[in-house]
Amino acid sequence: MRVLGIETSCDETGVAIVDTAPWEAGQPAGKGLLGQALYSQIAMHVDYGGVVPELASRDHIKRVIPLINQSLKESNSTLSEIDAIAYTQGPGLAGALLVGASVAKGLALALDKPVLGIHHLEGHLLSPLLADDANIQFPFVALLVSGGHTQLMEVTGVGEYAILGETLDDAAGEAFDKTAKLLGLSYPGGPAVSALAKLGQSDHYQFPRPMKHSGDLDFSFAGLKTSVLTQVKKLQLNSPLTKADHADIARGFVDAIVEVLVSKSIQALKKSGMKTLVVAGGVGANEQLRQALAIACEKEGATVHYPPLHLCTDNGAMIAFAGAMRLKKNPQLAQKHWGFDVRPRWPLDQLL
Ligand code: KG4
Ligand code: ZN
Repeated sequence: MRVLGIETSCDETGVAIVDTAPWEAGQPAGKGLLGQALYSQIAMHVDYGGVVPELASRDHIKRVIPLINQSLKESNSTLSEIDAIAYTQGPGLAGALLVGASVAKGLALALDKPVLGIHHLEGHLLSPLLADDANIQFPFVALLVSGGHTQLMEVTGVGEYAILGETLDDAAGEAFDKTAKLLGLSYPGGPAVSALAKLGQSDHYQFPRPMKHSGDLDFSFAGLKTSVLTQVKKLQLNSPLTKADHADIARGFVDAIVEVLVSKSIQALKKSGMKTLVVAGGVGANEQLRQALAIACEKEGATVHYPPLHLCTDNGAMIAFAGAMRLKKNPQLAQKHWGFDVRPRWPLDQLL
């Protein structure tokens, strides 16, 4: 089965075509990624310090058809060879989601092919299976860390997800982005804060490790951001912050957030009795998190898996792949109506 996937939930227009043959033959599913095209709107939103929803929708409209053509060309496919279409149905920005939904439904109607709306986080959490060396068996624990979400999930199979814990306020990526803003770095701040932290000293600023010992698997990052803000303001009272101050604060922040994410992930493995951890979402690209998780998981006798680096942030491949897996498992899931239904707010445990 060849599936076209369309992702337009936020500020990336992603399109990809996957074939299920390698995956069905027991090979890594990534071998079936025939073609993909991605356009990031980051440069357009950077002056505003975040994503402007109306601009995002308008840009998706401009990009999506050329990107579909590009991924068809790259995969040597024609539209008539596409067996099904998957699109991101939510969560995300309503107007942005509607662009992908309209295009997917229009194509499916014209081609008389099945179409399926995919939960954006399901795309992220299955994306590690697309790695070339993926050898991941269900069940596993998934740590989803993106700009909008921070969740620990128990994944027992395709479409079988239970939330173990989640953030009570800011998402991990949001905390990175807000801290970046405080330090004068541009949006999206995750990679910039991470790079700056490498130049800083670990012991100069100690920030709290929120909810590390709360006994549950929930997170809270709003207080961490506030304590960075308080520290910055305190230093500014004496003199403007130096480059070294910025780097030390970034280091203190990264140390704190990584310690909490690692600690909760290990607690989730222990509580569920599982030995496989899968990390997905934009913050999963973070180097410091990867290093710390490698050490902690080895100590725990567990393995940790990531998507290929270019599939950590939003992309069409994860949506095409999730659509293919779900339709293979249950063809009845194909949507039979032609409304442009999107779900801007959609908890993953309400998927079924
Ligand atoms: O998954 P994603 O592309 O979009 C959402 O669904 O939110 O994640 C984007 C988030 C942003 O907050 C960005 O700052 C963060 O992921 N991010 C990182 C890194 N790369 C992206 N955070 C920390 N370190 C990174 N290397
Ligand atoms: Zn995402």
